[in-house]
Amino acid sequence: MVAHATKLAPSILTADFGRLQEQIQAAEEGGADLLHLDVMDGRFVPNITFGPLVVEAANRITQLPLDVHLMIEEPERHLDVFAQAGASIITIHVEACVHLHRAVQQVVDLGCQVGVAVNPSTPIESVREIAPFVDQILVMSVNPGFGGQRFIQTMTSKLRRMRKLLDEYNPTCDLEVDGGVGASNIREVLRNGANVIVVGSAVFNADKSVGENLTALRDACSASSA
Ligand code: DX5
Ligand code: ZN
Repeated sequence: MVAHATKLAPSILTADFGRLQEQIQAAEEGGADLLHLDVMDGRFVPNITFGPLVVEAANRITQLPLDVHLMIEEPERHLDVFAQAGASIITIHVEACVHLHRAVQQVVDLGCQVGVAVNPSTPIESVREIAPFVDQILVMSVNPGFGGQRFIQTMTSKLRRMRKLLDEYNPTCDLEVDGGVGASNIREVLRNGANVIVVGSAVFNADKSVGENLTALRDACSASSA
């Protein structure tokens, strides 16, 4: 069995964009492992967020690897600009891409790590043939489009089944979970095989500071291995 390092990936979706630099620095100082950037086009998902300009700005602000989650149609048309903007990992959706293997290869050729994401209703088998070619599989645990949604409970079993599939087809592959994860359920997703944990509203919220929230999440993670 390959041991997969646990990584916390704060998503800036619910951050205060008027203080983006401060918020990103707080995440880095608070011990984040990656910075998760949610790109939405208003077509693949109902919401519109930002494009390569914000990725490029984030790249100037932080040393953290940038985990760029593309929730856009025809992602293959935009991969180069996100690579140039400083993405470390580019994740594209299986539902958004007809020629997925070609798009994955494009990301590799651009010198980035590559991830493939699946929506909650998309079966794990949809990534079986692409699994050997990727660095990361992302299981959406909410319907993509917005921060602060409730975790879909059946996704814990999906994570477990996805990890099993990856153990067979690409054992070193990371398994990322995205949506509705916080201190109360992070143990559960880790136990079920996720190792890269996206945390949006659990980190960037009005209740506590970014640093306090990250400490609470890390404490909850270590409790899981006790
Ligand atoms: C949802 C995005 C997520 C989201 C996570 O479409 O892909 O990355 O920002 O936010 P929380 O953790 O609040 O569900
Ligand atoms: Zn995301």
